[in-house]
Amino acid sequence: MDRIVQEIEQAAREAGEIIRSAHGTELGVENKEGRANFVTRYDTMVQEFLTRRLREIIPDARFLGEESGMDRFVPGDEEGYLFVIDPIDGTTNFIHNMHPHVTSIGLFKDGQPWAGVVYAPVTDQLFSAQRGCGAYENGRRIHSSRQGLSENIMLTGTSGFSMSAFAVSQKLTAAFQERCQGYRSTGSAEYNLCMVASGRAGGYCEMKLGLWDFAAGSVILEEAGGRITDYHGNPLSYREESGIIALCEGLAKDENMPDTGAYWDMWDGK
Ligand code: IPD
Ligand code: CA
Ligand code: CA
Repeated sequence: MDRIVQEIEQAAREAGEIIRSAHGTELGVENKEGRANFVTRYDTMVQEFLTRRLREIIPDARFLGEESGMDRFVPGDEEGYLFVIDPIDGTTNFIHNMHPHVTSIGLFKDGQPWAGVVYAPVTDQLFSAQRGCGAYENGRRIHSSRQGLSENIMLTGTSGFSMSAFAVSQKLTAAFQERCQGYRSTGSAEYNLCMVASGRAGGYCEMKLGLWDFAAGSVILEEAGGRITDYHGNPLSYREESGIIALCEGLAKDENMPDTGAYWDMWDGK
């Protein structure tokens, strides 16, 4: 793995120390736009810390981050290095003192995801990958499950932002429930992708995620032999928010998968 990625791993661990230090302190919870969308003073603190710290690693990198004010892909981001950061993914869990909540750092090179680091401070799990170099959990090589749907559990997002997306997502979850060993919802998109990458879950679907919610985990999953697409099976644009279907190697080949595109088409998009 490139020295840059090792330094990003170290930065993610340092961010995790800030998150761990929050325990028992005033979190400063504020509402953002939309339903159940929160930010705490720790989200802002970690974003600021990482912007400074990662600039030491790649001085001319550009930045896109959930809490940075620069939260969309802009002209110029297709060239060179771009960090795509979610300082705390799983903020609602963090507020309720529940695991998982993670720090997520994606690194794009010339407009495409090139490396990803996800750190879960409560369980001290560090997931990382670099394009072409495999995926790792705490330094140990990981691979997604080679088994099919009937041998796996599924992960699903809760679509807290929209009741109509929630209703469609529940229908798809029911279709999976019939064919798999059950489903779970963890509350952190990046952690879910790492759970699929490491073979603990077979797949994960969510109807709307920000770029920072899957920038790191997509590289980790693909390097672990999995696949990430939109609901119709198309490659992601990596330019804006997306619905995502993340599958382990076994599910990507399973002929008993529900037609996720048909469920997507039921959603009114609101
Ligand atoms: C959220 C989490 C959650 C997903 C939401 C995301 P945040 O990110 O990843 O699992 O269901 O759509 O917004 O707000 O905790 O960074
Ligand atoms: Ca997030
Ligand atoms: Ca966040």
